[in-house]
Amino acid sequence: MSAALLDGKAIAADIQQTIQQRAAAMLAGRGRAPGLAVVLVGRNPASQVYVRNKRRACAEVGFHSELHELPEHTSQAELMALIDRLNADPAIDGILVQLPLPEQLDETAVTERIAPTKDVDGFHPYNVGRLVLRMPLLRPCTPKGVMTMLARTGQKPDGLDAVIIGQSNIVGRPMALELLAARCTVTICHSRTRDLADKVRGADILVAAVGRPGFVPGDWIKEGAIVIDVGINRTAEGKLVGDVDFATCAERASWITPVPGGVGPMTIASLLENTLQAAELHAD
Ligand code: GUN
Repeated sequence: MSAALLDGKAIAADIQQTIQQRAAAMLAGRGRAPGLAVVLVGRNPASQVYVRNKRRACAEVGFHSELHELPEHTSQAELMALIDRLNADPAIDGILVQLPLPEQLDETAVTERIAPTKDVDGFHPYNVGRLVLRMPLLRPCTPKGVMTMLARTGQKPDGLDAVIIGQSNIVGRPMALELLAARCTVTICHSRTRDLADKVRGADILVAAVGRPGFVPGDWIKEGAIVIDVGINRTAEGKLVGDVDFATCAERASWITPVPGGVGPMTIASLLENTLQAAELHAD
């Protein structure tokens, strides 16, 4: 088999077009567009790129967005005070604190300080709990974007064996909950997993979120599997590559996501969807 491309960039562009129309309708109806506040602490170069892309997408769909750049040495109290201000600001529907934070800051406390209806990352324990209970409110962006892509394959996830490599709070765990809610049989693999290759060989859907370039070789892929690559790794030569070896995996998969242009744009599309959803919650 030779895989078809799951083109995240094209799917995200479709979604953005719909969001742009809904944002315009909201602006016409109640005099303000959805608003996103992005908080960036310090000068992590990867975070700076992600934040720039998120703000550009907001501008493209006509959202209000504002960037709060804080210095590396920001204290917990200063960051909490900013979140309190944004929680109380009626022009702001979504608050995104870009992770990772400098080490003096307590990520859990910061996440818990954001009002759950403004938590467009879906990281607050309230939103995580709702996802666990199959009554989601705001859903984590990357796994939500992956589910949107899976829907575009036309393949029903019911009863399929899904394998996730990676157990992070941002991707692996919420991804498992999403796939379980879609009635897959889910296996989460991590650094202590035994016989990883055998587990991956059983996957009808593979989600790789390891953070190691080309970690999954083609001979781990079941013939006809859907391969979703969440990794974004820069090689020594400066090239962006995913966690799966694209050329050999594409020979066996039915569908595969490219890197770049796969999951990355879908994460941003989900963020825009969440911000619009939050704005609708705040309109009530
Ligand atoms: N750092 C890496 N991914 C993410 C994300 O989805 N949201 C936030 N806030 N920080 C991140």
